[in-house]
Amino acid sequence: MPSRHFLSLLDFSSDELRALIHHAIDVKQSLKAGISHTPLNGKVLAMVFEKSSTRTRVSFESGMSQLGGHAMFLSPRDIQLGRGEPLGDSARVISSMVDAIMIRTFGHDRLQEFAQHSSSPVINGLTDKLHPCQLLADLQTWFEQRGDIKGATVAWIGDGNNMCHSYINAARQFDFRLNIGCPDNYMPDPDIISAGGDRITIMHSAEEASANADLVVTDVWASMGQEQEQQDRIKEFANFQVNSEIMQQADKDALFMHCLPAHRGEEVTAEVIDGPQSVVWQEAENRLHAQKALLEFLIAGHY
Ligand code: CP
Ligand code: NVA
Repeated sequence: MPSRHFLSLLDFSSDELRALIHHAIDVKQSLKAGISHTPLNGKVLAMVFEKSSTRTRVSFESGMSQLGGHAMFLSPRDIQLGRGEPLGDSARVISSMVDAIMIRTFGHDRLQEFAQHSSSPVINGLTDKLHPCQLLADLQTWFEQRGDIKGATVAWIGDGNNMCHSYINAARQFDFRLNIGCPDNYMPDPDIISAGGDRITIMHSAEEASANADLVVTDVWASMGQEQEQQDRIKEFANFQVNSEIMQQADKDALFMHCLPAHRGEEVTAEVIDGPQSVVWQEAENRLHAQKALLEFLIAGHY
């Protein structure tokens, strides 16, 4: 049977995603209770990073060790992929020697091509288009704090980027409403929006999008690879900052999330990200627990 990959939230069914989140919560509780859980004894994860990372690298590497396996960090500076060895050849060779591969890259087509040639499960560790692992952690955080997210209202404020696209896919899979407030020139991909159906509402101001929201989410204004646009974007996104006024539009019990790294004073004020509604540290830690559940599912094939 060909390998299951996790390139997008849409690669799993809603039931599989919910089961994964619940398992992640159990795995976290076991870890905190000091109970060892090593279903991936002797298994190896290769991690290919074509972009920088703190959370993704540390969570996958720690996660594999805690599960009894090993993670191998591969930088394009050191492997032949960085000197032009074809993606397909690299995927075929690496996957023949490891049990799963996580890749963080630029174009989503590079990830898809890699996965096509891989005989082991491939995990999307972020592309320009999607960041599904982050959504597993965000959803785990919501489930821990508030229970199931079905029927909730989420506000996405800022850039229509890889995180925004992943929120649209999450709204489809978990059946929540998503109000998107982005500057006109930075809207998400129209095909991804239309596939989200009537759960997705495009709004043109941060105030409108955050009205009565149960969860307010933002991300950097310039993603990795867009560094040269940073100064222009600071001007274009000036009205799309998540600050106390925006949080006051939302429900009084609303939570705030950000995948990190954050730029205080740009997309979010220090008052909000370091304030009582922010769950960004739990969200970051949950990358570890959610991805351990993902690795167990993809490599062991069950929980
Ligand atoms: N949120 C996230 O993916 O962080 P890193 O870029 O540090 O991995
Ligand atoms: N949108 C950001 C997310 C970083 C985790 C980026 O792609 O750089």
